[in-house]
Amino acid sequence: MSAQTALIIGASRGIGFELARQYRADGWRVLASVRQPADAAALEALGCEVLQLDLDNAAQCIALGKQLEAEQLDIALLNAGVYGPQTSAPTTPSADEFDTVMHANVLGAMRLLPLLGPIVARSGGRLAVTSSSMGSISLRSNTSGWLYRASKAALNSLLVDASLSYAPAICVALHPGWVRTAMGGDGADLDVSESAAGIRSTLAGLTAAGNGHFFNYNGTPLIW
Ligand SMILES: NC(=O)c1ccc[n+]([C@@H]2O[C@H](COP(=O)([O-])OP(=O)(O)OC[C@H]3O[C@@H](n4cnc5c(N)ncnc54)[C@H](OP(=O)(O)O)[C@@H]3O)[C@@H](O)[C@H]2O)c1
Repeated sequence: MSAQTALIIGASRGIGFELARQYRADGWRVLASVRQPADAAALEALGCEVLQLDLDNAAQCIALGKQLEAEQLDIALLNAGVYGPQTSAPTTPSADEFDTVMHANVLGAMRLLPLLGPIVARSGGRLAVTSSSMGSISLRSNTSGWLYRASKAALNSLLVDASLSYAPAICVALHPGWVRTAMGGDGADLDVSESAAGIRSTLAGLTAAGNGHFFNYNGTPLIW
């Protein structure tokens, strides 16, 4: 039997890199995207096949879709994301701040989901986005990271639409926990290896009933 294949979009560092490392260590074939060519070497050293993708570049997204057309993707994870302004109260972002966050977190997903959805559907695989509990409207108890929250809420909306569009792919949004990465900071709760292990196990345990749902890294369902 051939190895299972995982596609990880945004694998240069942080949670994406650790997921690539763990899937490779488990014998998977890993297609891992980076935006800077210089970040390819560390992933290649793990045995990943590296793809170049900047979500802000529409032509690169289309090229990636074509490149992957014939692939069997058991898992495709849109993990790349940016936080943007570190605000603690509703604060109007600059147009550049808005574009940076919304282009990476929302437009990037709107470019890739229609390309990857049919491939994952044909493969009978799982299509996931790395969202955040900060994108949940119902779980909200403060307004920090106003722009980031809005972008992840929009991403969640896109994921639900994907779940209505790409059967039999199982489409889910994931909260990775608060993780010690460049984005999460040193004071975060979780080591990146624990988050990635939980995400892998959650994805592995999904059934069709999970389609269109939101899960914590440890498999606990979250509310939108
Ligand atoms: N860490 C946390 O506590 C936490 C909590 C909730 C959700 N999340 C989510 O988890 C995901 C991974 O976060 P992380 O903590 O691993 O963050 P990170 O260490 O800052 O890594 C972010 C990743 O996204 C990539 N990326 C950003 N913008 C991109 C673009 N326009 N095109 C392509 N790739 C792009 C980065 O590539 P470069 O190296 O090229 O910049 C990098 O690989 C994100 O979606 C984040 O929102 C994280």
